[in-house]
Amino acid sequence: MAGTFYVTTPIYYVNAEPHIGHAYTTLAADTLARWHRLQGEEVYFLTGTDEHGKKIEEAARNAGISPQAHADRVSERFRRTWAALGIEYDDFIRTTEPRHERVVADLWRRMEAAGDIYLGQYEGWYSVGDEAYFTEDELVDGRSPTGHEVSWVVEPSYFFRMSKYGPRLLEHLRAHPEFIRPESRYNEIYRFVEGGLQDISISRTTFQWGVPVPGHPEHVVYVWVDALTNYISALGGPGAPLYEKFWPNVVHLVGKDILRFHAVYWPCFLMSAGLPLPKTMFAHGWWTHEGRKMSKTFGNVVDPVAVAKEYGADCFRYFLLREVSFGLDGDFSVAALRDRINGDLANDYGNLLNRTLGMLGKYRGGIVPRRGARDPIDDTLLATFEASRRALLAAMDELAFHRALAAIWDLVRAANKYVDASAPWTLAREKRDDRLDEVLYNLCEALRIVGVWTAPFLPERATELLDRVGVPAELRTVPSTAEWGRLPAGGRTRVGDPLFPRLDQAPKARPPKPAKEPPPVSAPETETIEYDDFAKLQLRVARIVAAEKHPDADRLLKLTIDAGEGRERTVCAGIAAAYDPADLVGRTVVLLANLKPRKIRGVLSEGMLLAAGEGSDVRLLTVPGDPPPGTPVS
Ligand code: MSP
Repeated sequence: MAGTFYVTTPIYYVNAEPHIGHAYTTLAADTLARWHRLQGEEVYFLTGTDEHGKKIEEAARNAGISPQAHADRVSERFRRTWAALGIEYDDFIRTTEPRHERVVADLWRRMEAAGDIYLGQYEGWYSVGDEAYFTEDELVDGRSPTGHEVSWVVEPSYFFRMSKYGPRLLEHLRAHPEFIRPESRYNEIYRFVEGGLQDISISRTTFQWGVPVPGHPEHVVYVWVDALTNYISALGGPGAPLYEKFWPNVVHLVGKDILRFHAVYWPCFLMSAGLPLPKTMFAHGWWTHEGRKMSKTFGNVVDPVAVAKEYGADCFRYFLLREVSFGLDGDFSVAALRDRINGDLANDYGNLLNRTLGMLGKYRGGIVPRRGARDPIDDTLLATFEASRRALLAAMDELAFHRALAAIWDLVRAANKYVDASAPWTLAREKRDDRLDEVLYNLCEALRIVGVWTAPFLPERATELLDRVGVPAELRTVPSTAEWGRLPAGGRTRVGDPLFPRLDQAPKARPPKPAKEPPPVSAPETETIEYDDFAKLQLRVARIVAAEKHPDADRLLKLTIDAGEGRERTVCAGIAAAYDPADLVGRTVVLLANLKPRKIRGVLSEGMLLAAGEGSDVRLLTVPGDPPPGTPVS
């Protein structure tokens, strides 16, 4: 029996619009939820909004509306953002919902019954921006460590005896190294708890926007007690069926800045209330934008919906999870995003599908063949599959999304190399049908496995890939990828547009205007030609299917290209100084097809590719939108 799995994001404050930081945690949680669903587990994925507290009260006042109306508006923005990013949560909790407030009151009463709440007077620094209390020593230049304003508050307040739980929390940490990840964060919290815990103020009397303290409605519950409770209130609280099913087998995903609330306060509240502690929490890093901290003042906040609209939600998600190690800080830039799309997604992933289905169409009428004659080349591919599978499972266990993707791409690249090494076009020409069957079968199976593994990361595009390969539903689960060769023969595949069209390499910025008008173009001195002369050139769209160094000329690359003729051609091109052969595979280029074939240093070259420039500056002409090979260029 597969188990249950519960994953949460922080609930987001409704004082700001959704940005890349919120999107990051939510996309990571969605990916994890999908991965566990593909394992056959029963999954509950929770996100939501944090709507109480002074910060929200002030934001509503600035907007000139009631706190509830303000919360309704921004909370809706979060839900729309998640819909635009393809997030499939099971529940969206709002802290202003009665179902939540009821459980907050219940938790308070439990802590009170344990003798852990007492009335006192709070005197100290409070930061509304952080919704947190600070001691004098913690202030930096008179502000909170995150740079927010602080004010001195004196008010009657209920306190929670957190000091009582320090030793038990330390014991829990020692027994459960998996409680906080990554390890560096575990160590940080361990040292903090070891230093001893202080009691904390958990109610406020100077504003009203919160859950009233049971029996003392002149106090509202401190917003972090309120907010953290969402993780159990969404399940209905202790005793409710969902709670009994999913708590405490949970992963809390949080940003590094709010780890202490989760790793120290939350377990202490739960211990006091007599409830089990969450299984694990993971603190991720922060994103900057082109090297700078994001802020409204700089106007450089990345809007996730705009990025997803321009580049696709799958590409955005892939970038965020591949670009940096989960747990470390990262930098977002459009240039880096485009590189990932053109390299990993278009060249490697999309191209594997394209060329496999193209060959399958050409040689086998689009039908997945039965298995055929083996060759030692197959063993290399299968060994990579096994190594990738192990690395992937281990990485997902550790929430190392970047490593998981790297492991999957090992297989993608190995499959592309397998095409080049087994040369299906030669097998077809030499009518080695049995061997060609095996090669094409293995490529389809590689696509199935890669499709299943990437489904949590590229939910929309991976499903399209699996549909095109005709993979039946029961073979789209992670357990079905434990062994090679389960894809049945006889399935019908479907060729289509490239999964990830290559983006124009040119930078998006417009070239600066020349200071002076350029001089008028003088009359051409060279001889002109008639249109008929031009019409003699057969220019055609072609796709590079393989590329290698010329065996006998450093300046040249030997390219295998598909010009839509039902056979491959070899073309030698003087571009070795500018291109790595591996980067060329999958590119759509322009071929002068009727140039007289010529032997160049022992290799017969049939045609010429159009390019601009010379030497290491040479650039192949590429065709946007990837029209099919053979399309005339005129
Ligand atoms: N409401 C609290 C959480 C309560 S959970 C019981 C809160 N909300 S928040 O909206 O301010 O922040 C939510 C999350 O966004 C945090 O995990 C924070 O780390 C994350 N991020 C905010 N800016 C970020 C980046 N620039 N980069 C990555 N994540 C960032 O805190």
